[in-house]
Amino acid sequence: MLHATGITKRFGGLTAVADASLSVAEGSIVGLIGPNGAGKTTLFAAITGFHRPDAGTVRFGERDITGLPPEEICRLGLVRTFQIVQPFAGLSVRENIAVGAHLRHPRRAAALAAAESVAQRVGLADQLDKPAAALTIAGRKRLEVARALATEPRLILLDEVMAGLNPTEIAEIVPVVRGLVASGVTVLLIEHVMQAVMSLAEDVYVLNQGRMIAHGPPATLVRDPMVIEAYLGHGAAQRLGAEHG
Ligand SMILES: Nc1ncnc2c1ncn2[C@@H]1O[C@H](COP(=O)(O)OP(=O)(O)OP(=O)(O)O)[C@@H](O)[C@H]1O
Ligand SMILES: [Mg+2]
Repeated sequence: MLHATGITKRFGGLTAVADASLSVAEGSIVGLIGPNGAGKTTLFAAITGFHRPDAGTVRFGERDITGLPPEEICRLGLVRTFQIVQPFAGLSVRENIAVGAHLRHPRRAAALAAAESVAQRVGLADQLDKPAAALTIAGRKRLEVARALATEPRLILLDEVMAGLNPTEIAEIVPVVRGLVASGVTVLLIEHVMQAVMSLAEDVYVLNQGRMIAHGPPATLVRDPMVIEAYLGHGAAQRLGAEHG
């Protein structure tokens, strides 16, 4: 469904993403992990039109979407969430979600109605009339997913929707992500909460210093020396190996 191939993105002298490729099959949950600053968010931005890649191509379904503006990519059914959530604080939860729903429902009443059914899917149905500013962090994360979901995507890119949540809140949002796939929306997620990635994703990509260093089922990756090194530092795989005989 999604094929990003050889994506490179530079910021001045810094190469944030270097020749990175990933594919997402329709109906799956795919994970993207990597240490802080690895380039994960930048790769999302390059895929969804927020940054034009310096090299590489993005294919979504049958179309080459490389360099298209975000609105156009969103209209085609590919949307991202933002790691730093920025709801319209003064607007209600319902109105915030309706902003996303306007893409497919130009009439205000229809957008507001669509917002309600989206709220149901992310567990915000009982908070619709609250101002967005009154939500907890967990609520804001759900709202961020809801606003993206309201654009009626076929593929949603989730950027750390579990960051800052406590274990209970994480346990509560995992089924929301599963519910997306059950309802026909394919998911690519960036996540530092490893337990959640392991339980959700059948396929995981590992980015380190802009490069894709590993790819496979989560159970295989946690034993991959390259992945252990990326997370724990130089020599870690050997040290761990020595410790475990
Ligand atoms: N707009 C920008 N201008 C300049 N440098 C940037 C910009 N966006 C990101 N970077 C740099 O690119 C690198 C990759 O950043 P990115 O945010 O993609 O990492 P990340 O993997 O999402 O990290 P985190 O896990 O902390 O969210 C970092 O060195 C970052 O400082
Ligand atoms: Mg990031």
